[in-house]
Amino acid sequence: MNVPEVVAYARKLEHVVLADEGRWSCSVDYLSRLQDLIQEHAVNRVVIASCTPRTHEPLFKKTVKQAGLNPYLLEFVSIREQVSWVHMKEPGAATQKAKDLVRMGVAKAVLLEEGREIRLPVKQDCLIIGGGPAGLSAALSVAQQGFRAIVLEKGERLGGMLNRLARIRHDGHEAPAARLRDSLVDRVLETPGIRVLTGAEVETLEGYIGNYTVGLKEKDGAVGQRLHVSTLVVATGMQEMPPVGAFRYGEDPRVLTQLELERRLAAREAGEFFPDTGGESAASLPRLEETVKNVVFVQCVGSKNDKRGCCAIGCHVAVKNALALKALNPEIQIHILYRDLSMVKGEGAMLEAAKRLGIRFSRFPDENYPEVLEKPDGTLVVETTDLLIGERLELPADLLVLAVAFQGDATVEHLKGLLKVSASPDRFFQESHVKLAPLEFPADGIALAGCAKAPMMLKESLEAGTGAAMRVSIPMKRGYIEAEGIVADIDLSDCNQCGLCHKRCPYSAISVDSDKNPRVIKALCKGCGLCAADCPKECITIVHFTDDQVLAQVDAALLESPEKKIIGFVCHWCALGGVDMAGVSRLQYPVHARLVRVMCSARVSMKMMLRPFEKGAAGVLVAGCEFPTCHYISGNYAAESRIRRMKKKLARAGYDPDRLVGIWCSAADGPKFAKTMREMVKQFHLDQGDA
Ligand code: FES
Repeated sequence: MNVPEVVAYARKLEHVVLADEGRWSCSVDYLSRLQDLIQEHAVNRVVIASCTPRTHEPLFKKTVKQAGLNPYLLEFVSIREQVSWVHMKEPGAATQKAKDLVRMGVAKAVLLEEGREIRLPVKQDCLIIGGGPAGLSAALSVAQQGFRAIVLEKGERLGGMLNRLARIRHDGHEAPAARLRDSLVDRVLETPGIRVLTGAEVETLEGYIGNYTVGLKEKDGAVGQRLHVSTLVVATGMQEMPPVGAFRYGEDPRVLTQLELERRLAAREAGEFFPDTGGESAASLPRLEETVKNVVFVQCVGSKNDKRGCCAIGCHVAVKNALALKALNPEIQIHILYRDLSMVKGEGAMLEAAKRLGIRFSRFPDENYPEVLEKPDGTLVVETTDLLIGERLELPADLLVLAVAFQGDATVEHLKGLLKVSASPDRFFQESHVKLAPLEFPADGIALAGCAKAPMMLKESLEAGTGAAMRVSIPMKRGYIEAEGIVADIDLSDCNQCGLCHKRCPYSAISVDSDKNPRVIKALCKGCGLCAADCPKECITIVHFTDDQVLAQVDAALLESPEKKIIGFVCHWCALGGVDMAGVSRLQYPVHARLVRVMCSARVSMKMMLRPFEKGAAGVLVAGCEFPTCHYISGNYAAESRIRRMKKKLARAGYDPDRLVGIWCSAADGPKFAKTMREMVKQFHLDQGDA
């Protein structure tokens, strides 16, 4: 694109007092020049037209702030990722698009208002929900930094899953799980600054970072104490999902899950025999190795299907437990029936040892699981097809051990509502972002650790606990948090007290007072804009993304040749990430899009979707994060449902509803964005070289 031409164009726009070209705008030299220019010309708004705001906006905000300007008076226009990198073969059209984007930026900048970060004090107390390995590791890390940790365990004893295992491989060695548990628990109990509460769980939770109040419920349901903490770590662990009704589980006591086998092995290790046989004395029962001659393991029971993926630990556990049985009695015949053996690096030796000891492995077809039958003589038999040798096998089983799927703890259903976070149908908590914030929730000051997120090995769980502790320690160390000033603001003069904003806010950031008036709790508001977009009386504005500012950008984009343009509303996170990725990858797509950034697709109101059509645009795109990863919990779901309603409204108003398109993408989805642009241009019969 012809940059001097764009600069000359910008210079002539109304309100522009100075347009300058910088070759390396983010270099120290240019930033210092920018500060000089701001002061010299006494400008009160700045538009930066360069790369993407996702990476460089904070730097320029800081720069203008140092020059004495409120950082909210800066607008950022991306003419590298959205223009020069993606329209390399159409310099004329690219230059025209860059001019449009600058004009849109100026139109918004004129309406910008000063904003302010919100500073909240954060003290040094952290509540850790869950007393398993991840929670204990988090508590130790928090306490080691001199902060106070409270470990809340709903059971009677600390240790979580370590209480249910026999032996465990950790740091290259195998040891009794009880020994590892005791050493971890002892360290926690001996560490000053850690307080342990057992036999209670979270009943109520209110507040925000720096100011959480947690109401506890005792085991008998009685109301417990109230805790005041600044941060939280959620480490609620996981449970097995026994396959009731399949593989004769629940009908035949010889059919066990891996954890049930672990329990027997642990009891054997502790000198007891069968602890789970009702009233019988453990000591009078036969030893495991004396009664069991043939053991069959079946892997992937309830996993690796269309409901859930690989459980991540089942293969390791099966081989470990098979070796434990062999150690009890080398004569036990063991057969492991698997679909795929997923052993991670470093576990090859364990697998080799199993093979050397005669443990057999047979692969069965994905769609054809082994069958379990009881013969007339009472023998339990597992029938399977060995895929590799192509033979049908009939295996006797004194014990049948199932590697079942896992699910999050039962308390997750209650907790996720209190924490305002998402969890999968299997009750595993969903992190804020799989790559960018894997240990965090969308709400500040709450971190996620261990198997509350997904099944993981002990080492990973301990590390995740430390990682989560580090995340919450940052604001505790600093003593405060500065929340973005992009928040909702309610003007009550037109409010009809419908309560929709209060009901719809994903963060419970809008309360209703005794007169039914809504009030924004700024410390909780994340500025997604869902409330503003849904407010029937248009009483809510979002600082830096007001209706007027967004619509001014739309109008400016469509000032010339609107029929050749597509207005795209893109969320700042994944959708703009996808746009940027298309740029970084130099994917070439048609020049027709004029993108308007919003923080979340939930901000795009029906009025915003309608305006481009009224102005004669060829089409409208709303792009947000792929499901279910909206950075504001559920904004993309709200946007999707609004698009559906808007299509009906468009049809009633005589517009073609197919010209409103929604896409949901990840930050790596550059190809998806480029493809959508190509498809829209084709569908709307626009010329490739237009716009
Ligand atoms: Fe991307 Fe909500 S942040 S859709």
